[in-house]
Parts: sequence; C-alpha cells; structure tokens
Amino acid sequence: MEVLVSSTPEQTAARAAGAVLAALRRVAGRDPVLGLATGSSPLGLYRELGRAVERGDVDFSATYGVALDEYVGLPPGHPEGYRQVLLREVCEVVGLSPDRLAVPDGSSTDEASLEDSAAAYEARIADLGGVDVQVLGIGANGHLGFNEPGSALTSRTRIKRLSDRTRRDNARFFSGLDDVPTHCLTQGLGTILDARRLVLVATGDTKADAVAAALEGPLTASVPASVLQWHPDTVVCLDEAAAAGLRNRQYYDDSAAGLPER
Ligand code: GLP
Repeated sequence: MEVLVSSTPEQTAARAAGAVLAALRRVAGRDPVLGLATGSSPLGLYRELGRAVERGDVDFSATYGVALDEYVGLPPGHPEGYRQVLLREVCEVVGLSPDRLAVPDGSSTDEASLEDSAAAYEARIADLGGVDVQVLGIGANGHLGFNEPGSALTSRTRIKRLSDRTRRDNARFFSGLDDVPTHCLTQGLGTILDARRLVLVATGDTKADAVAAALEGPLTASVPASVLQWHPDTVVCLDEAAAAGLRNRQYYDDSAAGLPER
C-alpha cells in the first residue's frame, strides 16, 4: 500500500491522477477500463484528468468507464442518479463516451429485477476484461462504494440498504432527507478487490477517523475500506487533514521519497 500525503487538496488530486494514468498506460492490447466513484472526493482528480486530455497526454475515447454504485428507485435521467452524475463529472470533463459508461440499473424497485441488474453488471465487468484502475472515495463511516459497515469482505454487486449516516451525508444532493433513496446497487468488496489497481482519494478532517481505521486498523467488515489492506496495488492519496489520524505517517513519507540517490 502506497500512502501519499500532500499539503493541499489540489496536490492530492494531481498525485491521484498520476496514479490513475500510470495504471492506464500499463494496459496493452485492449481498451482500458476505468472504475469511477461519485462523491466530492474524486472531483479534483477528474478535473486533473481533463487537463491531461487538454495537454494531449491522454485520450479517453477508447476507455470504458465502470461505476461503483447506483441508487435504487430513482427514475432514469434523475440528476442525482449516478449515471447522470458521472456523465456530468467524468464523461463531459475527460471525453469518455457515454456509450462506454456502465452503471448498474437501479431504476426498478422490484427485488428480482434488481438482482438481475446486479448479476448483469458483474457479467458486464467480466466481459470488459475487469477493471484496470478503480477510483475510490471513503465514507465517513468507512464505507467503500455503498458497502456499509457489516458488508461481507468477499461480496459481489448486490442490493444494499443505505445507513442513516450515509443518507444524512448525501441529503445535501437532494431536496431533503426524505428524498434520499433507502437502497442502492453497489459493487461488492470482492468486486472492488478484483480491480488491478485501487486509487483512494480522501481530503478534509471529516475523513481522518475513517482513513486511520481503514489503513491502520484491523481488516474487518465493520470498516469496509479496510479491504484496501488486502489488495496488492493500492495507492491512497490524502491531504494533511485526512491523514491527521495516521500513526505510521513518517514511514509513509519516507517510502514516498523513494530510494536515496547515490
Ligand atoms: C458516496 C459514494 C461513495 C463515496 C462516498 C464519499 O455515498 N457512494 O462512493 O466515496 O459517499 O463521498 P464524498 O467524497 O462526497 O465524501
């Protein structure tokens, strides 16, 4: 696990973009697959990717985008549905084709149809050859995607109940708490672990406890983001505020400095 702490959210976003682009450059012989998180944490990273496109350093026209999760029960085209959010915040910013964006279909409220959507989503990811690099944020309660505390560490895409904490946190995107869906479809922790690289971005002091528990606490379903410890290629990009609870900070900084020059 690589833990990169930067002094500002902007530098955090730039380092996260570097980690994403390096992983995409490793892909050969097929179209790259970029896993996409919603939420405010990765917005700076997506803007950095947009700047890299403008500079001519990268082109996303042949890249597939794969969402982490989607609300259940929002009508298609709802502005806060994650398909619409990713169209606005990623496709328009980096030039990824909407036809190449895969999002779980949560528009039904019928359990059997939602289970079919979840299975179809797993099959879609497999058809694409798996996710090359998965962008992640972290919930203040340690959730990853919408895998709330208590999620099985090997879980696959499925219906999940949102916790009260998550619904309150996300109420800012809706007219009020009552409008926030109660359920979602989310990639499971096992699905996320299958991505070849994970890049987590967290900024601000509201994430400090969750980050410390995820990176330095026990591997436990009570802190779903602790599965990052299980993955062989995780890059964690933090600002100072989000890193404030880490005990091994000196070691992370020493490691990030690389080998001494001779
Ligand atoms: C949302 C998303 C997560 C995201 C998290 C944190 O509910 N489902 O994928 O990482 O909450 O969001 P933010 O980055 O806005 O704090």
